[in-house]
Amino acid sequence: MSGSVGAHAARTLPLSLVYTERMSESGDKTFYLETFGCQMNAHDSEKVVGTLLQQGYRQVPSVEEAGLVLYNTCSIRDKAEQKVFNRLADYKKYRAQGKQFGVLGCVAQQEGEKIFERAPYVSLVCGSASYRNLPQMLVQLETGQRVTGLDDRATDKCFETEYTARSNPHRGYITIIEGCDKFCAYCVVPYTRGKERSRTSSSVLDEARQLVDLGYTEIQLLGQNVNSYRDPDGKKSFAEMLAAVASVAGMRRVRFTTSHPRDFGRDIVDVIDAVPTLCDHVHLPVQSGSTRVLDAMQRLYTRDEYLERIAWIQAARRDISITSDLIVGFPGETEREFEETLSLMDEVRYDSVFTFKYSARPNTPALRLEDAIPDAEKARRLAVLNDKQKQIGAERNQRHVGQVLEVMVEGKNPARGQWIGRTSQIKVMNFTVPAGVELTTGSYVPVRVTGSFPNSLVGDMASASGDCGGSKKSAGRGAAAELG
Ligand code: 5AD
Ligand code: SF4
Repeated sequence: MSGSVGAHAARTLPLSLVYTERMSESGDKTFYLETFGCQMNAHDSEKVVGTLLQQGYRQVPSVEEAGLVLYNTCSIRDKAEQKVFNRLADYKKYRAQGKQFGVLGCVAQQEGEKIFERAPYVSLVCGSASYRNLPQMLVQLETGQRVTGLDDRATDKCFETEYTARSNPHRGYITIIEGCDKFCAYCVVPYTRGKERSRTSSSVLDEARQLVDLGYTEIQLLGQNVNSYRDPDGKKSFAEMLAAVASVAGMRRVRFTTSHPRDFGRDIVDVIDAVPTLCDHVHLPVQSGSTRVLDAMQRLYTRDEYLERIAWIQAARRDISITSDLIVGFPGETEREFEETLSLMDEVRYDSVFTFKYSARPNTPALRLEDAIPDAEKARRLAVLNDKQKQIGAERNQRHVGQVLEVMVEGKNPARGQWIGRTSQIKVMNFTVPAGVELTTGSYVPVRVTGSFPNSLVGDMASASGDCGGSKKSAGRGAAAELG
């Protein structure tokens, strides 16, 4: 993975859900939860934690202290899945202490009751489409029964709960659509997360207002295919809902991920241009630059159709950063086809990309394809691609030098004497502040960019005189941008 931005950043990293201290004080029912995988999983975990707290459980920061140990798992690539089984094997030793173990998420849905055979000390296996039923499942679990929640992949319902234990105090996540109906040939998600189901726009808007009331100023709308959103009440298109969420009084930043090129309409670009609180960033995974490979991947668009969408984004008045996901070594990918991915990168000039070696997944159509690419060759292609992006990213980031960009403060790095934050374009900014100035996380400050790297920017806090904002295209490099 070469990029540093976007929701997919989390996809390959094991995310331990931050222990929030917001736990109920009483009760001897305790749980520990560890989360692997994507932003959707991380947010599902926030809802699972909320549900458990509501059921009288107390969250603890270590396996040792917990009565119930839960793993929210990812199976997008083989490595992610192996991690879960390794972790379960590590914890066998706790079995004698009478702890209960539960496997949630994509590996749970994919492997089902086979998990009990591999790890007999597991007593709960539950896919994400069954989380709605967790309260009843917990009651069953408490009576010592083995519980499975695997039958709901065809459900029309979303996991909506008023109990969400949010672990990030400034950026609030809202799932607007669950599941996926696209069935890309390599991808396990449609089998693990079930069919697409959207929440009503009124329920999403209520949650957005609630979050702002709680002090959140940045919201990220989530979905495996966020722009395939269909309001069950028929009130709002995806673009209209973006505008409505971004117009909630008090909102500073709204992001959305992940968009599918097939459903990406020009109206999304128009709404970003029109509504300043929508961030200047689109994550639009292409996967391959070859139309032949895209067809084999069942991606439902050609290289030219993808580039047409990129042209819409690049024609916007705002300087919208574009990020993507790329897979190398899909079965049958020739050297020439791989080079088409490299030439597409030259055409698009992504701000950042997430790169992956193709990994064969259970149940997926690509398993039946011949001409597997040897791992060493996949590794070589990945390295070539990452090198190319490093160069493109470095060049792309140079355009910000001299600009004053608004940054949401995320933390401090005392060792380097720098603060860290993110721009609207989701770029990491390391910056200094004048002596004696202390910032608060979650606040917004103007930062003058003084230097750039392939994956980050550096700068100095500028005077808060209102010259900040940054995403309107500037006439030339180095010109400070103005708020659009
Ligand atoms: N092998 C490699 N990469 C994959 N992705 C999804 N499935 C696979 C797979 N089987 C990548 C895609 C997707 C990102 C989240 O993970 O690039 O956009
Ligand atoms: Fe997987 Fe394709 Fe659905 Fe994305 S659109 S979740 S890659 S099947």
